[in-house]
Amino acid sequence: MASDESPSTMGKRLVKAGKENTPETRRQYRGLFYGAELGGAISGAILHPEALDMKLDDGRSFVEALHSQGIIVGVKVDEGLEPMEASCGAYEGETSTKGLETLEERLATYHEKGARFAKWRAAMPICKGEYRISRAAIEKNAAQLAAYAELCIAHGILPIVEPEILIDGDHDGGVYFVETRKVLGECMHALVQRGVRLDHILLKCQMVTPGVDWKGNGPGRDPATIARWTLDALRQTVPPAVKGIMFLSGGQTEYQSTVNLNELNVTARAFDEFAVPYRLSFSFGRGLQASVLDMWSRGESKEACMKKAEEVARVNGLAARGAFNEAVDGAHPTVLPKAGNLQETFRGVY
Ligand code: 13P
Repeated sequence: MASDESPSTMGKRLVKAGKENTPETRRQYRGLFYGAELGGAISGAILHPEALDMKLDDGRSFVEALHSQGIIVGVKVDEGLEPMEASCGAYEGETSTKGLETLEERLATYHEKGARFAKWRAAMPICKGEYRISRAAIEKNAAQLAAYAELCIAHGILPIVEPEILIDGDHDGGVYFVETRKVLGECMHALVQRGVRLDHILLKCQMVTPGVDWKGNGPGRDPATIARWTLDALRQTVPPAVKGIMFLSGGQTEYQSTVNLNELNVTARAFDEFAVPYRLSFSFGRGLQASVLDMWSRGESKEACMKKAEEVARVNGLAARGAFNEAVDGAHPTVLPKAGNLQETFRGVY
């Protein structure tokens, strides 16, 4: 479960939901998840560093509460995005990620506080009009991810390597597929060149879909096409030593995130056992939280919100095994529309 939003990103969501952005509201909101019974569906939770020091209403720390359910605690270690200079060949709006300079000293503290894995997010938009990501952005972000991964492993912390390609734009799925291959290929290359063992990382990437503003006809947004494109991009770039691929929801609705993850696992099973050698699972943020945030903003009780968190986690646990079947399990528990998107343009500011 990705629940490591920065105070700024979280704050914008809270304010939209009619809440104030204070450490106390962030604590209360996080508590809806960390106090819920998620252990059957979630194996790890990524926390923001500030949450490593926070407690539930019952006095247990978030870390203790998660450990009591066998959930491994992780921590976001990047410090948000910063613009890249045009002079290095980047397109307007491209970014790299901040935080490498201070990472080593922070890792020891996070480990002491209970974190055993980490996340570093690079965010790459597909440039409007160019329909591509610049070489400069691909290389810089891959190099930063590799440097981060190397440091984490040296400190006994497993790195989640997250090169996210944003879904903003009117590109079709083919463009997104091509860029996904380039980005993943470059990341794997950078990790290998840096001496990072690929079986010591987890990869977090997006599913291959058309951009949110794509107006084309034909296949693209259906689960079968998304699964086929995504598996094709992964199989051509990610070596089998990478054991787990944890998809972000990336602006898909809760419903789409679950159904598409399920379809990915169903499709993967139809190949022979060597064709898709990775565990295909989830590291959703909005895909796990959107209904709860909506209910909380409407004043529903803490208990009702926690129950919803459990229900949404549960269907994703099923989807991670290709076992989500609405005919058997009943309707998806989301309280939000199934179609559309949860896209946000403000993520990544610390
Ligand atoms: P979303 O699932 O909301 O895209 O967030 C996952 C995440 O952690 C991005 O860094």
